[in-house]
Amino acid sequence: MKKLAVAALVGALVLAAAWPLMALDVFQQNARLGRGVNILGWDALWQDRARGKFKDVHFQLIREAGFNHVRINLHPLRDGQPDAHGKLRDEFFNTLDWAVDQALANGLLVILDFHDDLAISPDPAGKKPAFLDCWTALAEHCQNRPDTVLFEILNEPAPQFTQESWNEYWRAALAIIRQTNPSRTVIIGPAKWNGVGELGNLKLPADDRNIIATVHYYNPFPFTHQGTPWTAQKDKLGVTWTGTEGELKAMEQDFSQVVNWASQNHRPIYIGEFGTYEKADMPSRVRWTAFVTRQFEKHGWSWGCWQFANDFALFDMPTQKWVEPIRDALIPKKKD
Ligand code: BGC
Repeated sequence: MKKLAVAALVGALVLAAAWPLMALDVFQQNARLGRGVNILGWDALWQDRARGKFKDVHFQLIREAGFNHVRINLHPLRDGQPDAHGKLRDEFFNTLDWAVDQALANGLLVILDFHDDLAISPDPAGKKPAFLDCWTALAEHCQNRPDTVLFEILNEPAPQFTQESWNEYWRAALAIIRQTNPSRTVIIGPAKWNGVGELGNLKLPADDRNIIATVHYYNPFPFTHQGTPWTAQKDKLGVTWTGTEGELKAMEQDFSQVVNWASQNHRPIYIGEFGTYEKADMPSRVRWTAFVTRQFEKHGWSWGCWQFANDFALFDMPTQKWVEPIRDALIPKKKD
């Protein structure tokens, strides 16, 4: 009898220890991420809360429009300014806490996306200690958040990373995260700007199933990025997207790489960024946006459009109005 009681107790303890991992199926987690939007990357509130354009009400508007999550574009190096001991500024964490609290209070899941790729990519090796310090601090700070908060290790690692150095880089960050957040869902994408063609080189650890793989989608680049001052497309204008046979075929080829990789590796997929710049014509932007979004959903991928405000914008801050054609292309209005 005594033996039975001990066995039952041991069994209960084992189950309790495994519960956080068992409770969450990563495919279900990805399904509840659903539809999302990138926010806050370039808002002045990181420098001074009073000058911030993004307010409490915007979380509510995002939820009411039908989104399920926000991907918060964090710059821990730029805005957290880690000191020699890896401590980040209190103001950074205050703003971060406000954003996470607001998102959760409005029923939105949250992705904390480490978006300092521009600071890191020119010198991945040199920046690695600071990058890992930031993850130690962030992971510790957020360890008691619910499982509706996810971490994304690094946005769009640029080609200065080799395949090996990128795999090694995120593994080091993941090991740090797992020390304080053993059951947190983590998002990881391939090198070369999280490009679809690079997925095959992303070697995720077989024994960690609580990972969602991410890619970004901006093809055809001369269309989505026409007129962007920061790319080689800056002088290009007037590129349309009408959904020709050739355009659709190219897209299908891109997506089939993702479908194949996901089924071979048995990982859920998150399209963490996609969008079109304002210089493209609106009918083409709407067509492209509606088409890619429905494709993502058909394949069971969650998505986060680029982005709420600034450029590629979904919401016009000066007038406080949605860019309705783009919003409706992302989230079609229900027919009565
Ligand atoms: C970059 C942004 C850029 C966007 C589209 C993002 O990953 O951080 O600066 O506007 O991609 O090119």
